[in-house]
Amino acid sequence: MSNQIHLPTMNKDVHSFSNPEQTRVKHLDLEMDVSFENHCLAVTAILEICRLDAGAPLVVDTRDLTITMVQVSTNGTNYSDTHFAIGPRDNVLGAALSIFLPGGTTHVLIKYNTSPHSTGLQWLEPSQTTDKQAPFLYTRSQTIHARSWIPIQDSPGIRFTYSARVKTPQKLSAVMSANKLEVSNGEHKFEMPEAIPSYLVALVVGDLSFRATGPRTGVYAEPSLLDRAASEFADTEEMICSAERLYGPYRWGRCDLLILPSSFPAGGMENPRLTFVTPTVLAGDKSLVSVIAHELAHSWSGNLVTNATWSDFWLNEGVTVYVQRRILEDVYGKHRAEMEEALGRQDLEAEIGSASEMDTVLYPNLEGQNPDKQFRKVPYEKGALFLKHLELTFGRERFDQFLREYFNHFAFQSITTAAFASYAMEHLLSTDPILSQTVPFDAWINQPGLPASAPPPITHAFTEVTTIAGQWIDHSVSASDIPMKLWTTQEKLHFLRSLSENLNALRMEELDKEHSLTFETNAEIQHQWLLLAIKNSYQLALTNLETYLTSIGRLKLIRPLYKELIKTAAGRKQALMIYERARPNYHPLALAVIDEMSGWRQFQTQQGQVQSAAGQL
Ligand code: BES
Ligand code: ZN
Repeated sequence: MSNQIHLPTMNKDVHSFSNPEQTRVKHLDLEMDVSFENHCLAVTAILEICRLDAGAPLVVDTRDLTITMVQVSTNGTNYSDTHFAIGPRDNVLGAALSIFLPGGTTHVLIKYNTSPHSTGLQWLEPSQTTDKQAPFLYTRSQTIHARSWIPIQDSPGIRFTYSARVKTPQKLSAVMSANKLEVSNGEHKFEMPEAIPSYLVALVVGDLSFRATGPRTGVYAEPSLLDRAASEFADTEEMICSAERLYGPYRWGRCDLLILPSSFPAGGMENPRLTFVTPTVLAGDKSLVSVIAHELAHSWSGNLVTNATWSDFWLNEGVTVYVQRRILEDVYGKHRAEMEEALGRQDLEAEIGSASEMDTVLYPNLEGQNPDKQFRKVPYEKGALFLKHLELTFGRERFDQFLREYFNHFAFQSITTAAFASYAMEHLLSTDPILSQTVPFDAWINQPGLPASAPPPITHAFTEVTTIAGQWIDHSVSASDIPMKLWTTQEKLHFLRSLSENLNALRMEELDKEHSLTFETNAEIQHQWLLLAIKNSYQLALTNLETYLTSIGRLKLIRPLYKELIKTAAGRKQALMIYERARPNYHPLALAVIDEMSGWRQFQTQQGQVQSAAGQL
């Protein structure tokens, strides 16, 4: 087997208009005024630049920003007007802002307002928050949405430090992915001394309380959620210590968690020093804290060593899922980590089975595509499995050392898949040429599906549960014999997944009578049960469907339910009716996904036609 890897060495980021090879932003300063009335940030941004080509302009990315003034300075104090031009708007990429730079320019000042429809901002009314007392704003910059609230070189390959002052309405607090400095005159001050890529710049404004859970850990949440959040996430410090033992020091100072309102479209987001978390992980028994282990793992894979372009996304997410499971194993034991790995493998195989071949490649060509579509299982689970294959091949000790040195070597850099491959070749594979022949490196990175030599799925994680599921399906045990009360969340999830093809409404009722699954409060188990209820038209559980879909905005939990619903004509009608009510609460990202999947636009047009036809009668 040959270990030739076919990869370009220089990757232009196809998702940014910026020109870092000529002019590069090295520091960003923001002065922001938050207006909940207008759903608008009024901002003065100062970009400190490094000029590699004296004659070149500064080109930054923007989307839907109203630019009111652009000035330049040679000392950061005295500014004067300069010429600028905004390019044509691309639906995915937004528009380039090119700024003429006179000789000696060191600073560029841009005054602008954001649009109420900014793709990176979600403005919530008090009624859309948990406590319903105050409005709430949060940002989402990953993948290419920082440009919808900051005119910046919006590419993960470009890193800069930042500082900010945020003016908020009285009584509301502001937090950012940065050190929190003092608050004076209603102005909250922040400083991020480490150079980070734009997708990690983050802001939240709302009625937030804080509680410390350890010397460098704590939680921010709306007041009514604070107790639950603090106890659910009490193990964060232990997780950090475990990651540090494996991969070296945590380099970001504090590690706080922030609980978002339920519309938050992801499980978590690794904003440095301030991880964002969905409230759907507040299960009461720490059973869903793998999200925290995941976001924490990004403090090494992602935030410290970053994907240079969105085609290299697996370097962020795949490595992170691998590290996440190592943290889980260390803190909660091998069985827990194996159960989660087994569930992840099921997800991966389901996706590989239904996606186009192109979408199962770890290192895809994303030219002309929206990089948000990478938020799928392949970069996560296939990436993690690739690392597991390396671990199994070279042994844990050797591989741990490799990964520790990799994080150190590339610390605070953004790297391509080619850089990862050549580093691995030099520091891992070439140390044992015979073993390295057994890892089809190029196939892992460039080919669809899974290589034949991929590690086999872990089946022993759920031996008992799989057996009992089989026995219940063929009626050799009754529902009351299923020891579900003794099972962990992961075991229950596996059990429900195993039933998928062998159920009907009556059999669901049988289970429900014994185990009250309809009244389950764990968001993941509810999700799995609702999925079965839709497939089998089990009415009792379906009475919860609308509440679930209107009160949760996390895509992973809502997308499969809509997808299952729209498989039948009656289901599609129901899906669209629920979606109409749920829509105002969803995040722009969720709207983009569900609009397309459900045929929402056509439905709206038809509704309009029916109404106008009725009007004409
Ligand atoms: N960085 C991602 C979230 C993300 C990806 C936001 C792409 C926008 C675009 C985050 O680290 C993540 O992967 N979260 C997962 C957690 C899970 C794998 C435990 C999620 O949200 O489901
Ligand atoms: Zn992640």
